[in-house]
Amino acid sequence: MNARRGRARRRDAARTVAYRVLRAVTADGAYANLELARLRGSLSAQDAAFATELVAGTCRAMGTYDRVLERAAGRELRSLQPAVVDALRLGVHQLLGMRVPSHAAIATTVDLAALEVGERVAGLVNAVLRNVAERDLDGWVDLLSEGEDERGRLALATHHPRWIVDAWSRVLPAGELAAALAADNVAPVPNLVVRPGLAEVAELGGEPDRWSPYGARRDGDPATVPAVAEGRAGVQDEGSQLVALALARADAPDGPWLDLCAGPGGKSALLAGLAREQGTRLVASELQPHRAALVASNLRAYPEPNAPVVLVADGTRPAWRPGSFARVLADVPCTGLGALRRRPESRWRRRPEDLPGLVELQHTLLASAIAAAAPGGVVAYVTCSPHPAETTDVVDAAVAAGGVDLLDASAFLPEVPDAASGRTVQLWPHRHGTDAMFLALLRRAGR
Ligand SMILES: C[S@@+](CC[C@H](N)C(=O)[O-])C[C@H]1O[C@@H](n2cnc3c(N)ncnc32)[C@H](O)[C@@H]1O
Repeated sequence: MNARRGRARRRDAARTVAYRVLRAVTADGAYANLELARLRGSLSAQDAAFATELVAGTCRAMGTYDRVLERAAGRELRSLQPAVVDALRLGVHQLLGMRVPSHAAIATTVDLAALEVGERVAGLVNAVLRNVAERDLDGWVDLLSEGEDERGRLALATHHPRWIVDAWSRVLPAGELAAALAADNVAPVPNLVVRPGLAEVAELGGEPDRWSPYGARRDGDPATVPAVAEGRAGVQDEGSQLVALALARADAPDGPWLDLCAGPGGKSALLAGLAREQGTRLVASELQPHRAALVASNLRAYPEPNAPVVLVADGTRPAWRPGSFARVLADVPCTGLGALRRRPESRWRRRPEDLPGLVELQHTLLASAIAAAAPGGVVAYVTCSPHPAETTDVVDAAVAAGGVDLLDASAFLPEVPDAASGRTVQLWPHRHGTDAMFLALLRRAGR
């Protein structure tokens, strides 16, 4: 019978969308933000906001919630149907992470599971969520972290896998660790950026960025800003702007600039304008043709003279002669652990096993970037990750190999406080309100 105690099951539009997005994330590897954007169009503004919070909060805290559920269910989650686990996860977030009253969180989740999975799972979902509702989140963290050390407790309390907490603790003072992890749980306000020479920051509306002279923070849909729609501005985190700006500010010979790993073209779009202001041209190169097309779209508004050029090329097998470029950006593929606040599910999807393959590619791309630089030219090595295996370890190896000097990168961003990490720059969400971008500037020997 499609009913509970004689009452018909009720379909809640926001929770149904949230459930289908979560299924796509956990079963098909979808990105929560993209899937939400695809499915929430059918909802009212209020329901869309509820579904967004439900999906984002559930994805962010999934590892913690799974431990809560295992304890509350008294069994391993892999013994349950994955579709039921997703419904339970949404119920846990409503109980422990949102202000939904317990009876409503439980009743709506039981209805959802019964309608989406089958009436037979209603009793299980009801029983497990009643157990979850016996404690608040702090109570569960206390219970589950019995026997854990401080980092284990922080991992649970801030919803991070332990390996990320361990990595952050290598690069942050102990007193900042909790704040850094907590900052990953706050979605940023969208940040816009002008294409230098083509638009003014005042056209973006919103609050001008703190340090970048090219950006502004602004709630709402960026596509409604005319300069964005016309390709004279785009969306870009302030941290990404700052690392590009530092490369443009360093002393370097005349000549064209190269973006070695350009897709989708955020940094290229800023660098292309800065290059034009210095009377030269940016070459934006990208391995993946579909991402090179995004670069071309991001650069479409720049006219001649010195309009940027887009190439499809493997940066590890250069399509140019060595020593061709005055400035080179190597914004290499990385774990993206510096942007966890924008990608709710990614902290649980990434694995430490992802690191070796990425690190090998990062070493190769940095060596290639150095070879592409003219004598005296400057290379910016950039990651959207603060993991030392991807940052300082890669840079240290390049410096040890010889032929480059490591510049003091923070000297090129003097307005940004607490950015220096040795001679490199490490930005942090909790310190700077930016993604955790890493920057090293290297000068090729021989000028
Ligand atoms: C971190 S993203 C670059 C982001 C970009 N700079 C921006 O600001 O929009 C790294 C890019 O490198 C590309 N990539 C991966 N391997 C590459 C290779 N061997 N040569 C060139 N690009 C590569 C990826 O496809 C991806 O688009």
